[in-house]
Amino acid sequence: MTKAWSDRFEKGLNPFIKVFNASINFDIELLNEDIEGSIAHAKMLAETKVITSKEAKLIEEGLKEILIEYHRGSFKAGVDDEDVHFAVEHRLINKIGDIGKKLHTGRSRNDQVATDLRLWLRKKIDRLDDQVKKFQLILLNQAEENLNTIIPGYTHLQRAQPVSLAHHLVAYIEMLERDRERLLDVRGRVNTCPLGAAALAGTKVPIDRYLTAKTLGFENICNNSIDAVSDRDFVVEFVSSASLIMAHLSRLSEELILWSSEEFSFVKLTDRCATGSSLMPQKKNPDVPELIRGKSGRVFGHLQALLTMIKGLPLAYNKDFQEDKEALFDTVLTVDNCLNAMTILFEEGIEFSRDSLSAAVISDFSNATDVADYLVIKGVPFREAYQLVGALVKYCLEQNILLKDLTLEKWQEFHPSVSQDIYTKLLPENVVASRTSQGGTGFRLVKEQLVVWRSKLAK
Ligand code: ARG
Repeated sequence: MTKAWSDRFEKGLNPFIKVFNASINFDIELLNEDIEGSIAHAKMLAETKVITSKEAKLIEEGLKEILIEYHRGSFKAGVDDEDVHFAVEHRLINKIGDIGKKLHTGRSRNDQVATDLRLWLRKKIDRLDDQVKKFQLILLNQAEENLNTIIPGYTHLQRAQPVSLAHHLVAYIEMLERDRERLLDVRGRVNTCPLGAAALAGTKVPIDRYLTAKTLGFENICNNSIDAVSDRDFVVEFVSSASLIMAHLSRLSEELILWSSEEFSFVKLTDRCATGSSLMPQKKNPDVPELIRGKSGRVFGHLQALLTMIKGLPLAYNKDFQEDKEALFDTVLTVDNCLNAMTILFEEGIEFSRDSLSAAVISDFSNATDVADYLVIKGVPFREAYQLVGALVKYCLEQNILLKDLTLEKWQEFHPSVSQDIYTKLLPENVVASRTSQGGTGFRLVKEQLVVWRSKLAK
């Protein structure tokens, strides 16, 4: 087998340290990108006459065969190879002989791993963006079906004011849109090519960094060779954006968990995405949103781990960077799975209980603000109206009745300006419809927003 280290080394590695040092068990994930990067590098070396085009062709063919072996499952790599970069190089030399030894000219594993990681992440960002969009569309479908469904709106988890369910769901579409903007923003900085920075200082081999960058579809090259090999900001930024996606999914999960409880009963879990209890036969558990809420913790943990990993590192490359991969890979996998699970949940795992929702919104004091607003229109200063309604709510609570149950006589005793129309004003549908300020929950405004989102997401 090809030796990894120079002849300076006389003794082999301690067997435990060999395993401790190796990353092959997880960085094999980068094999596609490693080969893609190596083919681009070999082509460039031929273009700049560092190797012959015949040599480059042999290298390219060998690398492509390795890719086939990998996908067929016959590519065998182990801790003796240390990492994916060595594994591919060793296999190449094994296949095509001495010409394979020319591939590593003018580069180092330091710029190679940074290149692989950027190529890998760029693809994943595109996939995640698609996944987020897909979920936005599912939310939009639900929102369109529920424009006229009214749900209690909360602040401090206390009933506040009724809102259109569509309005509530569109709030998540907005959050997810910011998530997509962040992903796109990070993508711009991921899409810069470090290849050719070599170990840290560049190389005297006459390479063409713009050529490899172009072949690999990078927007630009990293300008400073030291920064090129020591920059993991893009990993941190990505995991930070991923953390916000998870935070959003987790908040939605929390709502679904509450809503599906008997106490709320706003949502029914279908059999498709709920599980039972091994002991209590009556139970149906919201495992999917619970898992999503739970998994947010591991992504936040990765963010913390990455920041801690880089904070004390001197320039340039340090082996600590090897620790970036599992954090990044697990983040991508977790976010991808959670988006998928949440999409399935909204497609077939939940049903809004419209009856319980309408029962909920007529049996509370969430129309109290509307009484105050009613008095304001009749000329009562808001703060005074607010105090009056407070006293009225207190009276109702003592009598164990709702505002709608008050007789007109009682209303007029409370304030002479109140007339019969108060009863229609207090109906939940009128309460919602009357919130006509821009961005509010008035049905007409929400409907406009739904149209805007439908065309935005059609692009
Ligand atoms: N496996 C290494 C990593 O993931 C590749 C780069 C190793 N470079 C080095 N000089 N030891 O970071």
